[in-house]
Amino acid sequence: MRTIKLGNSMLEVPAIAVGCMRIVSLNKSGAENFVKTALEEGANFFDHADIYGKGTCEEIFADAIHMNDDIREKIILQSKCGIRNGMYDFSKQHILEAVNGSLKRLKTDYLDVLLLHRPDALVEPEEVAEAFDLLKSSGKVHNFGVSNQNPMQIQLLQKSLNQPIIANQLQLSITNANMISNGINVNMENDAAINRDGSVLDFCRLNNITVQPWSPFQYGFFGGVFLGSDKYPLLNQKIDEIAKKYNVTNTTIAIAWILRHPAHMQPVIGTMNPDRLKDCCKAADINLTRQEWYEIYRAAGYKLP
Ligand SMILES: NC(=O)c1ccc[n+]([C@@H]2O[C@H](COP(=O)([O-])OP(=O)(O)OC[C@H]3O[C@@H](n4cnc5c(N)ncnc54)[C@H](OP(=O)(O)O)[C@@H]3O)[C@@H](O)[C@H]2O)c1
Repeated sequence: MRTIKLGNSMLEVPAIAVGCMRIVSLNKSGAENFVKTALEEGANFFDHADIYGKGTCEEIFADAIHMNDDIREKIILQSKCGIRNGMYDFSKQHILEAVNGSLKRLKTDYLDVLLLHRPDALVEPEEVAEAFDLLKSSGKVHNFGVSNQNPMQIQLLQKSLNQPIIANQLQLSITNANMISNGINVNMENDAAINRDGSVLDFCRLNNITVQPWSPFQYGFFGGVFLGSDKYPLLNQKIDEIAKKYNVTNTTIAIAWILRHPAHMQPVIGTMNPDRLKDCCKAADINLTRQEWYEIYRAAGYKLP
């Protein structure tokens, strides 16, 4: 598996991250087979959150991988905190408690990366800084990042933090590509020009923050998978045509499209199907041409001004 550097950290990580939000759908042997396949593919970066399956996803994963000191050294673990029932909570107390919970469920004594899951309107950056300092000095968390945050929110946090923000996890797929289309349509009077994110993609590139696209196969907000969907006939036709050319599946091309972007993004895939996982990993070896990338973009319905 090709690797990339995560932000400006020392971490060298696989180009594709394995999301574990849906691992709760697998039985014990299915989960074991899934993580085994991931490791065989070199996909040893696993994305978690304290809330996935109300905590059970972290537990199922730790059991499936047979967590021990030896295996722990071979994998990179990321988890998230800050979403609670009916609220977001970036208080020092909650961050510290949430990390302790994740460590316990994951059967480890450290996270390689901790992300703040969704912006908390009541965030007090100084409190987050205190929490991060304690987590860093105790060795419980090695690196820090955010998720679903815009440039101003990141700058506000960073002003108080003593550690760099190295990753920002954001929704991005071929069919949910506003963060790309608004940069192509600057100052135009069309919907694609609407800048919903404060130019977060360019901000992350400027500041060495790795964008981790989540839900790379979904349209809408968990609306369904665009591959094979009759909502996107032209897109599927184009992806199938390019897949045939490279002798890979449409799944591979959907991820290759994200990887072709020069921001060196790390897509977080959510499949629990070992064969599809392998297809996703194949994307790391494919470099779409500029023309193919734009053909797919346009086939998804985006227009060039
Ligand atoms: N930071 C955030 O706010 C946030 C939000 C959501 C998710 N995430 C992270 O992102 C990860 C991925 O999210 P996601 O699961 O929504 O992403 P996804 O990869 O877009 O969707 C995966 C789902 O699509 C299905 N699928 C059907 N056909 C597929 C195909 N041809 N190729 C791939 N998948 C296909 C999969 O089913 P099969 O299992 O049968 O393949 C699975 O249920 C999560 O695990 C989580 O770690 C983060």
